[in-house]
Amino acid sequence: MTLIRRPRRLRVSAPMRRLVREVRPQRAQLVLPLFVREGLEEAREIPSLPGVKQYPLSHIGSVVADAADAGLGGVMLFAIPATRDPEGTAACDADGILNAAIREAVAAAGERLVVMADLCLDEFTDHGHCGVLAADGSVDNDATLAVYARMAVAQARAGAHVLGLSGMMDGQVAVVRDALDADGFTDVSLLAYAAKFASAFYGPFRDAVESTLEGDRRTYQMDPANRREGSVEAALDEAEGADFVMVKPALPYLDVLADVAAQSSVPVAAYHVSGEYAQIEAAAARGWIDRRAAHTEALTSIVRAGADIVVTYAAHELAAWLEEDA
Ligand code: PBG
Repeated sequence: MTLIRRPRRLRVSAPMRRLVREVRPQRAQLVLPLFVREGLEEAREIPSLPGVKQYPLSHIGSVVADAADAGLGGVMLFAIPATRDPEGTAACDADGILNAAIREAVAAAGERLVVMADLCLDEFTDHGHCGVLAADGSVDNDATLAVYARMAVAQARAGAHVLGLSGMMDGQVAVVRDALDADGFTDVSLLAYAAKFASAFYGPFRDAVESTLEGDRRTYQMDPANRREGSVEAALDEAEGADFVMVKPALPYLDVLADVAAQSSVPVAAYHVSGEYAQIEAAAARGWIDRRAAHTEALTSIVRAGADIVVTYAAHELAAWLEEDA
């Protein structure tokens, strides 16, 4: 038999496969989420996120230095305050836990990695929603924007390099950009969680931040059924001035990620979220899946679909594995 094309020829050996590989994830693309909890004395494990911890403020400097030593591209800070209220007041307090953590992280990072801060109210409100509520109990978009503007300036003053706008309020990028520029923070960049879906895969994260949410976020996060809407959200955020756009979760939404990567003129990020990570960990703990191979394949697939930046709880191990495999 004469076969002109035999694709297996390029798979015959490890060196050949390495030569023809299309994507090569790098540790500099990885961003590690970090949780800091007010009032902790010691780091505390998060049972639904094996290997991930809540840290006391006093540990953040060394945790960020370790991330830099590992060659990671950045860290993304989330904070759990000791007290919560309907307006999420602690989010805008210069001495609030998140802003204090930003200062520690930025000092430890120096010029070695990028410090990103989550800009959203869900960790700070007692009802657990990402914004403030109207009298009828709905999440009030425009009232929330005013709080985001103040929160953004507080984070910029604390020294954050990038603000991660994860609340899915309409107009959040434009309002935050205006507020930062008016205060002279023209060099602080905005990572817009542009296509963020109302996902079941956020479950372990809500344990990590001790979420009080009852109900769901379906009036502001996207319906998992909608692909075109992901493109619309990303285009709007870019037009409003987003410096990066993100798709979240990652693996269940690779179609949306590929669309956004094809249309965007800014760097594209993807968030391999808590439930995606926990699935691999849980199966690996039972011996049902090869942990390293599964994490590596997940990362490779996310980059192949078009992500320039990947936010992942496995960043440290992936960085070490990528160096070993290089
Ligand atoms: C909310 C926020 C969430 C995540 C990041 N920011 C949860 C949510 O929207 O309920 C989830 C991240 C993860 O699951 O790893 N601001």
